Amino acid sequence: MLISFEGIDGSGKTTQIELLKNRLLDDGVKVQVFREPGGTEVSEQIRSILLNPQVEIDPVTEMLLFSSARSQLISSRVMPLLASNHVVILDRFYDSTIAYQGYGRECLPLEQIHQINHIASHAIAPDITFYLRVSREVSASRRANQLEDRMEKSGDVFYDKVIAGFDALAASESRIQTIDAGQSIDLIHQQIWQKISLSLSI
Ligand code: ADP
Ligand code: TYD
Repeated sequence: MLISFEGIDGSGKTTQIELLKNRLLDDGVKVQVFREPGGTEVSEQIRSILLNPQVEIDPVTEMLLFSSARSQLISSRVMPLLASNHVVILDRFYDSTIAYQGYGRECLPLEQIHQINHIASHAIAPDITFYLRVSREVSASRRANQLEDRMEKSGDVFYDKVIAGFDALAASESRIQTIDAGQSIDLIHQQIWQKISLSLSI
C-alpha cells in the first residue's frame, strides 16, 4: 500500500506521518517512510540543490529536478518495498509538483506536468493521499522560528496559488482525503487512523 501526505510547508505532514508510522509498527505492519525530494543518495543531493537559497533555478529545470529525484526514489526504493508487501508512506509525492510547479510557478501546462509525473513515478499511484489543508497564515506561524529554504522564499502570492492547486487536485481526485490541518495533532491523527485502519482491516 502506498500512502502519500500533501499540503503546504508547515501543515503538519511530518508530525502526522511519524504518528501513523508508529501506530502501524505497533500493529506489526512493515512500514517505510520517505521524504520527497530525498530518500536515496542521488535524490538527497538533488534536494540540497533545490532547497539551497543561494541557487537560482529556472522553473522548468526545477520541475525536472524534482521529477528526477522522484524517479530515483520510486525505482530504487519504493517499488521493491511495495513488491514485498510493505506499507510505504511518502512525505510528498507528485501532487506537490502539480501544486508547486504547475499552479505556483506556472512553469508548463498542467497536462504536460501530469505526463512527466507519470514518467517520474514509473506509473505507480498512491492508494490514498492525505491533504493536510491549512491557511498560509497558520503554516507561516508554525514555521516562524525556522530559516526559510529556497522554495519557502517564494512569497505569499506563490503560496496562495499552491493552496489553490492542492484544492483543485483534491476536488478532482477521489484518492485524496482532505483533512482540516488547523485542528489538534491528536484529532488529525484519529481521522487519518480511521481511514487507514479501515483500508488495512486492522
Ligand atoms: P510539515 O512536515 O508539513 O512541514 P511539520 O509536521 O514539520 O509540518 O510541522 C511544522 C510545525 O508545526 C512543527 O513545529 C509541529 O510541531 C507543528 N505542528 C504540526 N501539526 C500541528 C497542529 N495540528 N497544531 C499545531 N502545531 C502543529
Ligand atoms: P520539505 O522540507 O521536505 O517540505 P516541508 O517544508 O513541507 O516539510 O521541502 C520540500 C520543498 O519542496 C517544499 O517547499 C515543497 C517543495 N516541492 C516542490 O516544489 N515540488 C515537488 O514536487 C516536491 C516533492 C516538493
